[in-house]
Amino acid sequence: VTIESLPCIEGEPTLLRQAIANLVQNALKYTRPRDGARIDIGAYPSPGEHVIFVRDNGVGFDMAYSDRLFGVFQRLHRPDEFEGTGVGLAIVQRIVQRHGGRVWADATVGAGATFYLALPSVKEAA
Ligand SMILES: Nc1ncnc2c1ncn2[C@@H]1O[C@H](COP(=O)(O)OP(=O)(O)OP(=O)(O)O)[C@@H](O)[C@H]1O
Ligand SMILES: [Mg+2]
Repeated sequence: VTIESLPCIEGEPTLLRQAIANLVQNALKYTRPRDGARIDIGAYPSPGEHVIFVRDNGVGFDMAYSDRLFGVFQRLHRPDEFEGTGVGLAIVQRIVQRHGGRVWADATVGAGATFYLALPSVKEAA
């Protein structure tokens, strides 16, 4: 696991920690079959926001079903392959939206997945 230096984000620490934890838990779970499992956590700036990503070299998923990823109880793998309830990413999306951000993913079957969180870099004036 590698962790680059990460930006300072304005928000509710407990919720943001939960969002990152859900992504890291997925990365750990879906790389389980890999001998050389690798997880990279990093960030890059984008106008008005920071993009934080969690990338893994796990089993990946078919992008054709990516619209289901963030739905409650939606899973793209069978329970006999990987345990889970299908709520982790729904919670991530709710937390990120509540902070005025966006979440999306990129993946290839058999070649890993990357999840991105874009969060505002400056809080709007109230
Ligand atoms: N890093 C990943 N690599 C491959 N597939 C993933 C990854 N993260 C999520 N997925 C797919 O997206 C689905 C939804 O993810 P989510 O975290 O919401 O549910 P879960 O991991 O199955 O269960 P839970 O997080 O509730 O324990 C997963 O079932 C899995 O099919
Ligand atoms: Mg999960």
